[in-house]
Amino acid sequence: MQTRVLKVNPKNPSLSQIRQASKIIRSGGTVAFPTETVYGLGANALDSKAVKKIFDAKGRPADNPLIIHISDVADLGILSNNIPKTAFDLMEDFWPGPLTIVLKKSKIVPKITTGGLDTVAIRIPKNKIALELIRYSGTPIAAPSANVAGRPSPTRAQHVIDDLSGKTSMILDGGPTKIGIESTVIDLSRKTPMLLRPGGVTLEQLQKVLGKIAIHPIIHGKKTKTIHRSPGMKYRHYSPRAKIILIEGQKAIVNKKISQLLQSYKKQGLRVGILGTNIKSDMTITQGSQEKIAANLFRSFREFDAEKIDIILARGTSRKGLGLGIMNRLRKASYRKIIV
Ligand code: TXA
Ligand code: MG
Repeated sequence: MQTRVLKVNPKNPSLSQIRQASKIIRSGGTVAFPTETVYGLGANALDSKAVKKIFDAKGRPADNPLIIHISDVADLGILSNNIPKTAFDLMEDFWPGPLTIVLKKSKIVPKITTGGLDTVAIRIPKNKIALELIRYSGTPIAAPSANVAGRPSPTRAQHVIDDLSGKTSMILDGGPTKIGIESTVIDLSRKTPMLLRPGGVTLEQLQKVLGKIAIHPIIHGKKTKTIHRSPGMKYRHYSPRAKIILIEGQKAIVNKKISQLLQSYKKQGLRVGILGTNIKSDMTITQGSQEKIAANLFRSFREFDAEKIDIILARGTSRKGLGLGIMNRLRKASYRKIIV
């Protein structure tokens, strides 16, 4: 398959480009597009054959459900007949934006889209290209992150080209994504809302609206029997090819530990990358605010790989605010965790 890459103005997408892309969606093909979080690989969410193409292109396990993207709250009613008031409260505060809400699904949503579950995950993205694409396609668009399964999520069109060239009909290049980690996923299909994946909207923000929120144990790295509530969480994720060692603790002690490990791995002849401190190494990427860490996290994983780094020594960050989502991605990507 030949993949067409279109450079699109993110502030003012051209109608002709949006038309070309939506034509592909309407005829059952796939289009990769930017959202405010990461790039997604989209297809008509209500067309089983089209959705199958997403799973094939990504090499995604069939039991890992997709998020459905809509452009208007009015489209919610066709995807779910059971929408609690709390859902409307969240939508009012966070849509369009990086919040995905899980509800009981309606009959119209094919099982392949929801990985066989009787619930459906829905969000309105905050990105003009994405919104116009959905609007012109005239259908909800199912879209997982546009990476090969297991690789870091793409935050630039080039990452999508690297992973999916020849596997999707079109890639809309709208520049780097703003947030850099995926949307927060919250399950409202049960009595007490449950956080299934921390992301762009913080737990603290959600608690202000909802009050009590259960947190899926896997977010804290605990083994659990209720894993099926968040099928995607069980898969190894976000990983660069290099092995990440995550080091947490008081800053000065962490830095000392990183220096020690750096020396010992260098002695073994390995190429070592450092994330989160300015200790000099084969490749060092420092961190700034949490917003900056999130925006650059997946890109730095891919850059370490491009530099053929073998070991990444990463300093952990606080779990407050965006930090919960950042640490969740770091932990899932890492091969070893050290607390000093
Ligand atoms: O920011 C995002 O959410 C991006 C952009 C493209 O919108 N999309 C994204 O999709 O990250 P994906 O497929 O990489 O992650 C979807 C997550 C998975 O962890 C999946 O298990 C969960 O959402 N999910 C989807 N449907 C679900 C459902 N019905 N119940 C529970 N979890 C669900
Ligand atoms: Mg993903």
